[in-house]
Amino acid sequence: MNIGGGRFVITGGASLIGSHVADQLVAQGAREVILLDNFALGTPETVAHLAKDARVKLVRGDILRINELYDVLAGVDGVFAIAGFLTLPLTQNPPLGLAVNVDGQVNVFEACRYRGVKKVVFSSSVAVYGEPGPGPVAEDAPNNLAPFQPGASLYACTKLIGEALCRLYHAKHGVGAVALRYSTVYGERQHYRGVNALYIVENYDRIMRGERPTVPGDGSEVHDYIHVADVARANVMAMASDVSGEAFNVVSGVASTVKHLVELLLRITGSKLEPEHVSGGAGVRSSTGSRLDFSRAKIEKHLGWRPEIGLEEGLRRLIAWRRHQA
Ligand SMILES: NC(=O)c1ccc[n+]([C@@H]2O[C@H](COP(=O)([O-])OP(=O)(O)OC[C@H]3O[C@@H](n4cnc5c(N)ncnc54)[C@H](O)[C@@H]3O)[C@@H](O)[C@H]2O)c1
Repeated sequence: MNIGGGRFVITGGASLIGSHVADQLVAQGAREVILLDNFALGTPETVAHLAKDARVKLVRGDILRINELYDVLAGVDGVFAIAGFLTLPLTQNPPLGLAVNVDGQVNVFEACRYRGVKKVVFSSSVAVYGEPGPGPVAEDAPNNLAPFQPGASLYACTKLIGEALCRLYHAKHGVGAVALRYSTVYGERQHYRGVNALYIVENYDRIMRGERPTVPGDGSEVHDYIHVADVARANVMAMASDVSGEAFNVVSGVASTVKHLVELLLRITGSKLEPEHVSGGAGVRSSTGSRLDFSRAKIEKHLGWRPEIGLEEGLRRLIAWRRHQA
């Protein structure tokens, strides 16, 4: 599909990831980009920088109301199905979180089928692997959800349902569909809803207040941090490609310890504070362990995507944005 000249809807258009997808669609010459959001979690400020672009429309709408999807999807080429509740908000409000992630997603696919939308790119998560086994975790790895905390497990199940919907609507109704499994996404316009990225902003805030950043245990816990602009680029590449019915890891493939992350934050901010080692997980709690090895071989092979923004550069961008906000 051509991005230039195309018409696209982003559900959850006011999200961290949706706002960056919108930036890239506009940069690549999309004819129209409709940002659909009910502002349950995101705010219009996230996309305020796009308000002056006549090709971008911010529409208040709810994916739980299928009529609102029918209205907004008329004549649309592709949908980025990004609206959803992350583990934290889903744990705080299971009835609404499950409704949005499951019923809302069914509505999106049903409305796409009805409106003849050519392709859906669905925001999934590496949470679908649960606690991954040893070795590079490729897309056909089993879903080991038993060790997960209940909230993370519910969240992972909703993403598995979303992925199954991708395959069903692709196979049965010819709606092109790709699922992208992100690791820990961070970057400019960062919010406080992602359990792992929250750790980054909380520690940055501590450093700015002159308080010591905290490191859980010995700091050996690792995460795969992926910058939001790389995630957005994967979304647009998935939409542009002819690939359908597949799921792809969108990961850095690099396991970074939380100790290293805090050292980078201290270096970038020029702080001389000493990290404080605290017991327990301190909330850094998703897709975790002392090793992580997500494979990005499949997406590299099929879509030609690879990350371009390393952790230090990504943190510099996030911090520059936060400073600009202050
Ligand atoms: N951020 C991450 O680290 C991460 C990792 C893996 C997967 N994901 C997935 O990517 C997607 C986007 O993540 P994010 O961090 O940008 O999310 P976010 O929390 O910034 O945005 C979610 C958006 O969905 C909107 N929304 C919620 N319910 C809605 C409804 N009923 N109708 C319309 N809009 C609704 C919210 O208002 C919000 O703007 C989510 O589906 C998430 O599960 C995110």
